[in-house]
Amino acid sequence: MDHGLPPRARIAGLGHHLPPRVVTNDDLAQLMDTSDEWIRERTGIRERRFVDDGTSCTDLAEAASRKALENAGWEPDDVEFILFATLSPDLFFPGNGARLQHQLGLGPIGALDLRTQCTGFVYALSVADALIRAGQYRRILVVGAEVQSRGLRMDDDGRDTAVLFGDGAGAACVEASDDERGFLAHSLHSDGANALDLCVRKPGSLQVPFVSAEDIAAGDTAPHMNGREVFRNAVRRFPEAIQEVLTATGTPASELKLLVPHQANARITEAVRRRMELPEEKVASNIERYGNTTAASIPIALSEAVEEGRVERGDLVCLAAFGAGFTWGATLLRY
Ligand code: UT7
Repeated sequence: MDHGLPPRARIAGLGHHLPPRVVTNDDLAQLMDTSDEWIRERTGIRERRFVDDGTSCTDLAEAASRKALENAGWEPDDVEFILFATLSPDLFFPGNGARLQHQLGLGPIGALDLRTQCTGFVYALSVADALIRAGQYRRILVVGAEVQSRGLRMDDDGRDTAVLFGDGAGAACVEASDDERGFLAHSLHSDGANALDLCVRKPGSLQVPFVSAEDIAAGDTAPHMNGREVFRNAVRRFPEAIQEVLTATGTPASELKLLVPHQANARITEAVRRRMELPEEKVASNIERYGNTTAASIPIALSEAVEEGRVERGDLVCLAAFGAGFTWGATLLRY
């Protein structure tokens, strides 16, 4: 940096990828006791995307990453480090970061997986910003990708979660900034007291073996959720996290061009919008088409908003998330 300001990181390019197979609410109603009306009224979701056999979470990430690289004008070899946020990695271990490094054909660069679920992309951007500010790297690929569909319980006992989630990926190329654009503030939080209110219990190292046939039969490999508790906390924590980054920078909410909340439930997004007193056009929502894609939902929604011209270079954007852990947080950035 030669402009005398402290280094800052900015988003140089974005990309997203959704698998082509559309699964409607009526499709799910063939498999479990639910209805299009219930799902739309309670969640705002009309359809979501599911991968076909043979497509992995890393494959979705690779497709989103290649679009982000092109959008940023980077060659793959420009990437110096990978941050990969997911709760649905291809394998229990190792993480998807190293697999993405390999699939992109990169040299043996560092790759770090983040396990903060719906808040994963916000955490990852904060880590990228810190690594760049510290001078360790200049160009970092940040990815959120999920294959939820293979972990859901597609029967009556799984209906409270199966109807919510979808597959997809989004990616951001994050680079050292030489102008006023970039990340302005981050807030990151967690409270493990609520870990079991939204979790996948098995496989896990609390038991021997990590997973058994009985666990699978009992549905313990599918998400377990205390929906009302998650909802109650989400509508409180989203505005808190958003307000923290606004206060830290002295920014009134009215100056935001767009709020991109994690897409958990259209009712949660609406409650947050009202609480922040933002007009509808200033809040991104695509849950109707994709459902909740966890760590992928924010980069997909941001990438779409940029494609649609709703966000332009220099605009103030706030990203905010809440999810399993519980974890929650927000990032304020000048795009
Ligand atoms: O990314 C973060 C992760 N997740 C979230 O943020 C989700 C937060 N929670 C929610 O979005 C909502 O709590 C849900 C959408 C999951 C549920 O909506 P709700 O208005 O809180 O419904 P409820 O849990 O109070 O359930 C109402 C009824 C229940 O029946 P009874 O007990 O009243 O007879 C459920 O059994 O709806 C029933 N139900 C369903 N009915 C049809 C639950 N799931 C379904 C379903 N189809 N898929």
